[in-house]
Amino acid sequence: MSATAEVLTSPAARRYVESLRGPYRDDHVRLEPSGCVLLSKVTADVHRILDFAVRPDDVWLVTFPKSGTTWSQELIWLLMNNCDVEQAKQVPLIHRFPFLEITSLMPEFTRNMPHSIDHVERMVSPRLIKSHLPLDQLPKQIKTVKPKVIYVVRNVQDAIVSFYHHYQLWGDCDLTLDQFAECFMDDLIMYCPYWDHVLPFWNLRNEPNVLFYSYEDMKKDLASVIRRVAIFLQKTITEKQVAQLVDYLSFDKMRDNPAVNYDPVVEQLRADYKLQPLPSSTKFMRRGQVGEGKQVLSEDIQRRLRQWTEAALQGSDYTGPR
Ligand code: A3P
Repeated sequence: MSATAEVLTSPAARRYVESLRGPYRDDHVRLEPSGCVLLSKVTADVHRILDFAVRPDDVWLVTFPKSGTTWSQELIWLLMNNCDVEQAKQVPLIHRFPFLEITSLMPEFTRNMPHSIDHVERMVSPRLIKSHLPLDQLPKQIKTVKPKVIYVVRNVQDAIVSFYHHYQLWGDCDLTLDQFAECFMDDLIMYCPYWDHVLPFWNLRNEPNVLFYSYEDMKKDLASVIRRVAIFLQKTITEKQVAQLVDYLSFDKMRDNPAVNYDPVVEQLRADYKLQPLPSSTKFMRRGQVGEGKQVLSEDIQRRLRQWTEAALQGSDYTGPR
């Protein structure tokens, strides 16, 4: 194993990996320099990503998984492309707004496509790039070249619930939701530790090249977020276009839009791993609600999550959703 990663070998980590079926059943490793947990197969590309050449006119969208990434991708792409919904409908989002580390994480995802890092390298500027990597695991030049970076955060309890269902969709996971939340607090799940992901971007939120907003902001007032993102991207947008985007980006429209859904990839992956097909009602665009964590996590786990969050936020001026 390379010096950039240490395999998680605790009994809890082993139990967690053994509870998984599908593409995420791989040794989990803690990556250097960030301490981020990922699948061991990602290790091979860590240096390539750290040394990746950033361009000043790139737009990077960085999130912890399940924080409204896809929603923000579509919004950003439309603002950068004159609100061209016809093209957006025709070209799958993964081609228009690639996910930097997806081939490293899940090679099956890009089986008929170039490696995702090659894809991003070859893109014509201005590039739109998605990543779930924490700041210290992203290309080092993010800090020196200072491209535009948009970071989206989501209430951690809701992100956990959404991530749990994501695991049930892309593979199978034998854990209960509460057990999954415990593994999350123990930093056994990919892209954890959660607050170490959020806080470095929160601390950069006032930098001119950084925009920080939340999934909850989008749910509360999508039009305002669209206007904020447009200003940040230096794009002019009319109120008529804002209204069109609000409609186009609604949960119901996105759920029924094949260009932003991963349902066929999920189906193929589940077949590859010989997992039971899922009912057609189980979709990537699942519920799109705020506050589900409070309804479905046990009282005990919610209390522990609040304590865990308070401990992580000690000394921070963070005021976003938690
Ligand atoms: P739920 O699982 O809570 O429904 P990501 O793109 O980061 O993986 O995030 C996926 C989450 O964003 C899912 O949450 C998904 O339903 C939600 N989402 C995607 N598009 C949305 C939209 N237009 N409105 C509200 N939520 C949306």
